[in-house]
Amino acid sequence: MIRIAIDGPGGAGKSSVAKSVSKALGIIYVDTGALYRNIGLFMLDQGIDPKNAEAVTAALDEITIELKFENGKQVILLNGVDRGEDIRTPEASMAASAVSAIPSVRNYLLEMQRNTAKNNSVIMDGRDIGTVILPGAEVKIFLTASAKARAERRYKELISKGNNVTLDQVYSEMVERDRNDSTRDVAPCVKAKDAILLDNSKMSEAETVAAILKIVKKKTKDTTPLYSFLKVIVSPVYRLIFNVHVKGKENIPKNGGVLLCPNHIGAIDVISIGTVCPRQITCIAKKELFSVPVLGRLVKALGAVKIDRGGADVGAIKAAVSAIESGKTVVIFPQGHRFPEVDPATTPIRHGAGLIAYHAKSDVIPVCINIKKGKYSLFRRTDIIYGRPIKYEELGFKEGGREEYAKATEMIFSETVKLGDFSSLPAYDPANERQNKRKKRK
Ligand code: DC
Repeated sequence: MIRIAIDGPGGAGKSSVAKSVSKALGIIYVDTGALYRNIGLFMLDQGIDPKNAEAVTAALDEITIELKFENGKQVILLNGVDRGEDIRTPEASMAASAVSAIPSVRNYLLEMQRNTAKNNSVIMDGRDIGTVILPGAEVKIFLTASAKARAERRYKELISKGNNVTLDQVYSEMVERDRNDSTRDVAPCVKAKDAILLDNSKMSEAETVAAILKIVKKKTKDTTPLYSFLKVIVSPVYRLIFNVHVKGKENIPKNGGVLLCPNHIGAIDVISIGTVCPRQITCIAKKELFSVPVLGRLVKALGAVKIDRGGADVGAIKAAVSAIESGKTVVIFPQGHRFPEVDPATTPIRHGAGLIAYHAKSDVIPVCINIKKGKYSLFRRTDIIYGRPIKYEELGFKEGGREEYAKATEMIFSETVKLGDFSSLPAYDPANERQNKRKKRK
């Protein structure tokens, strides 16, 4: 999932630019200004002064606003009616600006906006998206332009829609609206500290879209410089020594968070997977590992997620979920620890993979590792097979809960096992120390 927040003053071209970006990325576009415009319009219809906080607050009880998406296009129903272009007139703009300064109006619309971004990848434009609505958005952009450039654009837009306005009129209303929006007490239109400032006064719409797509690509790129170095220089040597072969690389999605679920044979499984994975993988590493000299720095530089204890504790689950939500490729071993030289179909598994997939609403990729040893260990062969992605919807979740997580993990792991041929290996025997490499905790 990705959330892109675009804030900035009116006329900077946020909505047309955001629409193009949403198309390019295949995510939904949420125009939050339209919500305020509908409330402003309602007040005008009722003859209520949009600046009168008390009257506006009282009138909110008579409003229902429904925000939905039809074929990816936003539709707002104000008391059951889509008001279309009525919300775009200069009068509706001023009314929207006035009602948006009233705290009860902002509260009224808060959850609606947050909920839309909860279950969908979105690009959302407005004034307070990066600061209030989605402070955790992966990408934040503050899009602005000089008042003159913005007024000229808005003027052309209004004229093309048949509105009878002058450039002077549009300019002075724009300056007034800017003042209202940026100086109000609640959620003023200001740049979030971590937002990127983009001034498009001298840029065309296409150039602005390209600039934003570039920022998104850079921000969501999940490869650290050290990882790139290891991948290019060290990985070919490693693959040669350990005779690593790969199948099904095309099953790894190009972007977006995903969970990889391999069987677990040896301590270096995660490295073998990493050397042949088209994207940087994120493993969950124990806190202690981060303080080991050299190795600790390496683990940190590779972007591993730190957890307090080994195993599937709450911290680990939360860390994995948020890594997937921020677009990373996370690896979790459903078996929980290593089971060398044993048929993985017969080992116990835990339910962490299902739990993580449920909370991250993530697709899952079964990954099979098969190590065949030669006479000397150097002549072994490691096969890594990436299976077909299992869609989140296929995991059979209804309300969540231990039973559902366990069932989903079983389903995932059965796909993992199907990818390989382990018929020559013995079944798991808990009494066999060699088969069971779990480290005993002190
Ligand atoms: O983006 P727009 O011009 O359609 O917005 C109309 C008004 O709504 C604008 O003057 C400020 C207000 N608004 C806001 O306060 N917060 C938002 N997230 C979006 C719009």
